[in-house]
Amino acid sequence: MSYVTEAGPAASYTSLGEFDDDVEPGTPVVLVLGPSFAEGSGLADVAKQLRSRPELAAVMVVDELSTELLQRAIRSGVSDVITVPSELPEVVERASENISVTAPAQPHVPTATEAPDQPSRLITVFSTKGGSGKSVIACNMGVVLAKRTDRPVVLVDADLQFGDVAVMLKLTPQNTIVDAVSSLHRLDAQLLRSLLVRHERSGLYVLPAPTEPAFADQVTPAALVEILQLLRTFAAYVIVDTPAHFTDVVLSILDESDDVVLVAGMDIPSIKNVKIGLQTLRLLDMSADKLKLVLNRANAKVKLDVSEVERTLQLKADSLIPSDIVMPRSVNKGVPAVLDEPKSAVARSMEQLADLFVVDPASKRRGR
Ligand SMILES: Nc1ncnc2c1ncn2[C@@H]1O[C@H](COP(=O)(O)OP(=O)(O)OP(=O)(O)O)[C@@H](O)[C@H]1O
Ligand SMILES: [Mg+2]
Repeated sequence: MSYVTEAGPAASYTSLGEFDDDVEPGTPVVLVLGPSFAEGSGLADVAKQLRSRPELAAVMVVDELSTELLQRAIRSGVSDVITVPSELPEVVERASENISVTAPAQPHVPTATEAPDQPSRLITVFSTKGGSGKSVIACNMGVVLAKRTDRPVVLVDADLQFGDVAVMLKLTPQNTIVDAVSSLHRLDAQLLRSLLVRHERSGLYVLPAPTEPAFADQVTPAALVEILQLLRTFAAYVIVDTPAHFTDVVLSILDESDDVVLVAGMDIPSIKNVKIGLQTLRLLDMSADKLKLVLNRANAKVKLDVSEVERTLQLKADSLIPSDIVMPRSVNKGVPAVLDEPKSAVARSMEQLADLFVVDPASKRRGR
């Protein structure tokens, strides 16, 4: 086993114990593990070591890589497993980026990401009408916020039966929200981070929906809330995409949220359903301050105008998203509109929507 620190060159050790005795706690280190860690209690020992020292990251070099080994390694907190040693510099670099973003210098000492003056913001995108544009809005907002923020931004796909965030972002996830739930008893920020999939073009992290609708039942409201709370310890923004109806899971997410982006389309059934949804939210005592009304396809020539809709819903729209062919085109490409056609009207309206949540004007300007 060898290690690479941010400050210094690699050193070699024959065991984790030897490393532990030699290296000061708090030193940011990327451990490079050899194939022997795949055997016996090797990976369990690694998981324990990584948990006890959050400033560590680990990558592994093996002779032969199976899906089973990769899963075990990732679940133990290992950032990457490779078979080709020439890829080592790249994976070490990637793993070290994770250290600088998330790891506190000492356990339980808040990092910049956890600093109380920079609380995380949990934004849920919801609608009581299917197909209203929740997922495209959640994905585009996630990408915009990830590009504007130095701290991690995480998009959680809580449409547990039919979530399509991974498809919209063309991601092939190794893990889903079900893996986070099944590791809940030992889940900490580091393990949770290792289960997220990164959208390379924007840096957005995604916790995907289950791969099969049948797995949805495994995600209980309490488990999901626990996961969201853990994400909030290191993410600047946690954005949640939801299904188009009230379930016990959705209710607990709404309860936990700082902001609820309520999406309404510009047609009578959509407005009717959203009005009923709003009444339910009021009955549930949801604070009106949390709500942001987004009217999607707001330029559609459908004989409904914005003021009429606002009057019906007794709510002023915070954001108007035009109807644009760019949107379905970008969905089919798996590239969000804000990246695919950043100059389009629809992309600009997504940027403005994200603006509502950026409190620091300096970081707003930086992203422009
Ligand atoms: N402003 C828009 N202009 C054009 N097409 C749009 C717009 N907003 C959404 N769409 C299209 O509508 C379809 C449905 O959008 P999306 O999947 O985001 O809705 P949803 O509310 O998440 O649906 P579901 O309830 O099924 O999860 C997508 O194909 C998307 O491209
Ligand atoms: Mg959706």
